[in-house]
Order: sequence, then structure tokens, then C-alpha cells
Amino acid sequence: MADKLIIFDTTLRDGEQSPGASMNKDEKLRIARQLERLKVDVIEAGFAASSNGDFEAVQSIANAIKDSTVCSLSRANDRDISRAAEALKGANRARIHTFIATSALHMEKKLRMSPDQVFEQAKLAVRFARNLVDDVEFSPEDGYRSDIDFLCRVLEAVINEGATTINVPDTVGYAVPELYGNFIKNLRERIPNADKAIWSVHCHNDLGMAVANSLAGVKIGGARQVECTINGLGERAGNCSLEEVVMALKTRRDYFGLELGIDTKHILPVSRMVSQITGFVVQPNKAVVGANAFAHASGIHQDGVLKARDTYEIMRAEDVGWTANKIVMGKLSGRNAFKQRLLELGVQMESEGDINNAFAKFKELADRKSEIFDEDILALVGDESVTHEKEQYGFVSLSQHSETGERPQASIVFTVNGKEVKSSSDGNGPVDASLKAIEAQVKSGAEMVLYSVNAISGSTESQGEVTVRLQNSGRVVNGIGADPDIVVASAKAYLSALNKLQSKADRVAAQG
Ligand code: KIV
Ligand code: ZN
Repeated sequence: MADKLIIFDTTLRDGEQSPGASMNKDEKLRIARQLERLKVDVIEAGFAASSNGDFEAVQSIANAIKDSTVCSLSRANDRDISRAAEALKGANRARIHTFIATSALHMEKKLRMSPDQVFEQAKLAVRFARNLVDDVEFSPEDGYRSDIDFLCRVLEAVINEGATTINVPDTVGYAVPELYGNFIKNLRERIPNADKAIWSVHCHNDLGMAVANSLAGVKIGGARQVECTINGLGERAGNCSLEEVVMALKTRRDYFGLELGIDTKHILPVSRMVSQITGFVVQPNKAVVGANAFAHASGIHQDGVLKARDTYEIMRAEDVGWTANKIVMGKLSGRNAFKQRLLELGVQMESEGDINNAFAKFKELADRKSEIFDEDILALVGDESVTHEKEQYGFVSLSQHSETGERPQASIVFTVNGKEVKSSSDGNGPVDASLKAIEAQVKSGAEMVLYSVNAISGSTESQGEVTVRLQNSGRVVNGIGADPDIVVASAKAYLSALNKLQSKADRVAAQG
């Protein structure tokens, strides 16, 4: 039996620290459910002590997720650790992940603590956490740039206190594969009680080597847990990408020889969901989940693949969730067929009422668009108005006029707490005019920091999916809207972002 490798997903914690990627509780819960379907071993659901919003998100994920371990990050102090334990109370399997920086630079300049103080605090934190849960992970932040003798001393001590996983972060993405692999190997060889813990790798992608470094940590260093995020989401250049590291380990099982629990056919749906919720578009040539990852444009390649797929393909597209871009449903499809398709796409709706709302939206769309693809269905269920009937703002209708040489005009009808309001404006283009018309009534004063349009299924007949990112009083939220008319999609996305700005449950600040 091959060794098992633990996949620890931190999209909802480290991924969320990416500027502009903050998610609210419901969005986090939707992603967590997809991660459970993907069968990730551990879901790092957030940083419970960082805000009430994050506490509630960790709590609701802990209550909802049954198969994966649910983890909360916490600094190495009693208050953070107690908050984490409290948020995790409902979990089937709970993990507390506590950390403190150990590099000379971080200890001196950031923590203003001596190495001895850090040593004591790390020990006390793990001892305290172990009194609350059985599963405790310890991370020496900036571990890879730490003095190895000091690191050995700290890690030996925290294992003695009961840490069950030791994670060695390359916090700033400075490592290169061979050196990082050997660093983990050295630590494991030098620390006398190293075999009492599972060793984990956590690599950032500043030099584009997060996946390679993580794989070296596994192969050379003997780590048996990889920390990663969907689409490589994360601060700066991001984290090790889950889909890449998982498919490398699976495709090259001959070399790595490790067992993984991941159900890879759920990779693409969760990648799309994360991209849709955060507004971080996946680049077309991104390995595994990019639109071109399995596309063959050159004649020679196409010919080869048609004769024998493995001439140019090392993985099967369907194994990671790609389906042929076929028409899956139409106007005459019934509610049961729709519900079945949602299940096949790995979408679980909260209630029969949500399914009814989604089905009504699907029927509306099918009246306007003859061919409905899987992507359309995924966009439709990602539209907040399907699952949130009582939002403050709701889209009703829009008309706009634009003509070469004339200033575009838009008139929009939308609801404010259920009451219809009408507003008109001009603008630089029809989208600008529509959003100005909304803002003329709402007066949110929010600053738009991102506007992006994406064709859901790749042709001009496709729905446009629009992401609007708004910032107001230190809060950043993303709104998403989909419609065959991109001006309407833009208005829906703007209203969705305004709804989130109103929501108290939204996260205020990422890890401080
Ligand atoms: O990159 C890092 O050091 C972290 C730790 C908190 C584990 O994310
Ligand atoms: Zn990190």
C-alpha cells in the first residue's frame, strides 16, 4: 500500500488574503461544500479570531462539512486559539493551526521578540491548543528563511507539546526546489521526535516555483501533507495550486508513488466557482483548468490526438471535470432533468426553494438563448439572486440607447427593499450609463476597483459574465452578474456588489 498524501486546502484562508478576493460566509460555505466533494482531506476555513465574519464562516463550515477535517488558523496566543476552538465546536474533525514567525528578520522587525520568547510562546500555544483539540498543526512562519538550528529547537519542542502536523512555510516564495526539499529532509533527520508528526509543505509562488517546491518537499523531504489553493489563489503571486500539484502527483504516480484521496473530476467545477466568486479570471493557458489546457490548435496535434489521444495528451480532460462543450439542456427540459444536471455538475443547493428559483431562472434564460451549456447553468446558480430572495437591491429591467457620435443613455428599474425605483443617466458607454443610473439613486459612494467581462461559453451567442469589485470604507466586495446582454449583466453585477456592501456578515479585513 502506497503512502497517503494529505491535501490541505487553504483557499478560504490564505487564498482569501489575496487583495480583492475576500468572500462572505455564504460564498465560503459554497466553496467548502465543493472542496468536500473534491474530497480534500483538510479545509482551512479561515482565521476565526480575525473578525466576526470570519468566525461565523469557520463556524458554519465546521457545522456543515462532514467528511473533511475543518481547520482554523490562529496566532500563537490563548485568545486566538480559544476563538478557533469555539468556532470549530460543531466539526466532525477539527484542527487548530497555530503559527508564529521564526526567522530572525520577522522576530526582530515584526514581532519585536527574542528567539527565546518565540520559543516559549510556540510551546505554550501548542500546549494550550492540544488541551482543546487532538489535531494541532504548528507553522513557523517564514520557516524557510529561519536559522535551521533554532528551527530544530522550536519544532522539537512543539512536537513534544503534542503538535501532530509540522508545516514548513516558504512564506515569501524564496525557495528553489532542491534546496527546499533538502531543507525539509534535514529538519526531519535532525529532529529526534520528527517521526511523531506529519510534515507539511506550504509554498508561495513569488518566483513561480510553488508547485515545484511543494513536490520537492514531498519527494526529497518526505513531507506527507501539501498546502495549496484552488487556482493558486493567494497573496501576491499566490500559493501552490491544488489542481497542478494534485494532477502532477496523479499523472506521475510512477515517480511519486503516493496515494491521494482527491476525486479529480470535481476540479474544474470548484476552479470555476472560485474564479466566479472572487472575480479572479483563470488565464487560458493555466495548467489543468485554463480554457486552452486541453485545446489543440495546430493541425499536427489535432491529427495526432484524433488517431491516438496519448500522442499529445498526458491527462484525460474528463478526469478533471471537462465535458464536451455540448448543449446539455433546452427550453423543454423539466425540473427533474435540471436537478439531475446540477447534481452531475457537483452543485448542491440549500433547499427545494433555491432549486425552484434556479429552475425559474433557467427557464427565463432558455426562452432567450436556444443553447444552454453547463457553463450557463454554473453561472446561473452562482447568481446571488437565485439563493438570496431578500437582498436589498434587485434587478428588474433596463433599456439603453447608444449610437455612433451620440452620448449613450440608460434607464433602469430596480428594487430597493422590494420597492421599484426608476433611474436614468448618460455615460461614456451603455455600461457606464447604466451603472451611473443605479448610483444616482443609491449614492453608495463606492469606488469601482475592478470591472471584467467574460464570455461564458466562448462565442458571441454566449452569456456575458461580469465581475464588479467595489471598495468602500476599507471593505472590498465582488459582485457577479450573468446575462446574454452584457449591459444587463453589468447592472446585475453592480447591484450584487452593492448588496454585499450592505451585508454586515461580510469579512472586514484579512489576516493582520
Ligand atoms: O505563508 C505562511 O507563512 C502562512 C502561515 C500562516 C502558515 O500562510
Ligand atoms: Zn501562506
